[in-house]
Amino acid sequence: MGQLAPQERAHVGKLLNAVKTELEAALHARKARFDEQALAARLDAEWVDLTLPAPGQPTGSLHPITQIQTEIEDLFISMGFAVLGGPEVETEYNNFDALNIPADHPARDMQDTFWLADHNLLRTHTSPVQVRGMQRFGPPLRMIAPGRVFRNEAVDASHEHTFYQVEGMIVDRVVSVAHLIYFMKTMLSHIMGRDVTVRLRPGFFPFVEPGFELDIQCFICGGAGCPVCKQSGWVEQLGCGLVHPNVLRMSGIDPEEWNGFAFGLGLTRLAMMRYSIDDIRLLQSGDLRFLNQF
Ligand code: DAH
Repeated sequence: MGQLAPQERAHVGKLLNAVKTELEAALHARKARFDEQALAARLDAEWVDLTLPAPGQPTGSLHPITQIQTEIEDLFISMGFAVLGGPEVETEYNNFDALNIPADHPARDMQDTFWLADHNLLRTHTSPVQVRGMQRFGPPLRMIAPGRVFRNEAVDASHEHTFYQVEGMIVDRVVSVAHLIYFMKTMLSHIMGRDVTVRLRPGFFPFVEPGFELDIQCFICGGAGCPVCKQSGWVEQLGCGLVHPNVLRMSGIDPEEWNGFAFGLGLTRLAMMRYSIDDIRLLQSGDLRFLNQF
C-alpha cells in the first residue's frame, strides 16, 4: 500500500477487503459442509432402533467340575443309586475311626489333615459319607456322594488344598469284585465317551479288603507309552475294593449277612483329564478367561 499513489489506495483497499470477505465466506461454507458430512456419517453409524428388544444379561456356564459331577449323578441315579451329601466339617470319628483308621494307624499320615477344635476336621475325603449313608439307611444300600474335600497340601500345578471327589458304595447280599469292575467300567466309559479298558492293582485302603487301585488304559497313546501316562500305558483313576467287615460292623451292619464294594474317585483329576487342563489351580481361580471356555 505504501508504494501506491495516494489516489489509488482507496480503490485497492476496497478490492482487497472484498477478496478477503469472499475467501472467508468460502472457507466457512466448506467447513460447514465437512461438519455436516461428519455428523451424517456418525448418525448413520450410531443408529439405534429403540423398538428392538434389549440385549439382556449374558448367560454363564457350569463349572467343568459341576458338569462332570452332574453327568455322574445322572448315570448313577439311572442305576438306582441315591445321591447323598455330607458336611465339609466332619468328625474325626466319621472321617477316620469308622473307616477302620484308628488314632494310631499310619494310614492317617497319608492324608494331611486340617484339624479343627473338639475332634473335628475338614474332611480329607468323601468316604465319611459312606458311614453316614450306612447309619441313616442301612442295607441294602446304593449310594454315591460327590463333594468337596480338603488336604493340608503345598499347592502347585498338581496339588490343591481343596478338590472334589465322588464316593460310591453298594451294600447287598452278595457283592463281588466282578460287580465292582462292571460299575467302574460303566462309569468311566460314560464320562470319557468311549469304551475304556481298566485294570486292577492291589492297593491299600484300611476301609476295604481286598483294596485296589484302578487304572485305565491311556487314551493318548492307546497303551504304547507316552508322557501323559509316564510311559506306562496306564493312568491311575481311583481307589476301590470290597468293604471291610469292620467298617460294616461299626455302622451296625452284620458282615455275615451283608457285604459290599466302595470306590473313591477324584473328580478334579477327571475334569483335568477330560479337558486337558494342565494346572489344578485354574479350577478354583474364578478366572473368567478360564471359565468362559466351558
Ligand atoms: N478315600 C480314598 C482317598 O481319598 C479313596 C478311596 C479308596 C475311597 C478306596 C474308597 C475306596 O471308597 O474303597 O484316597
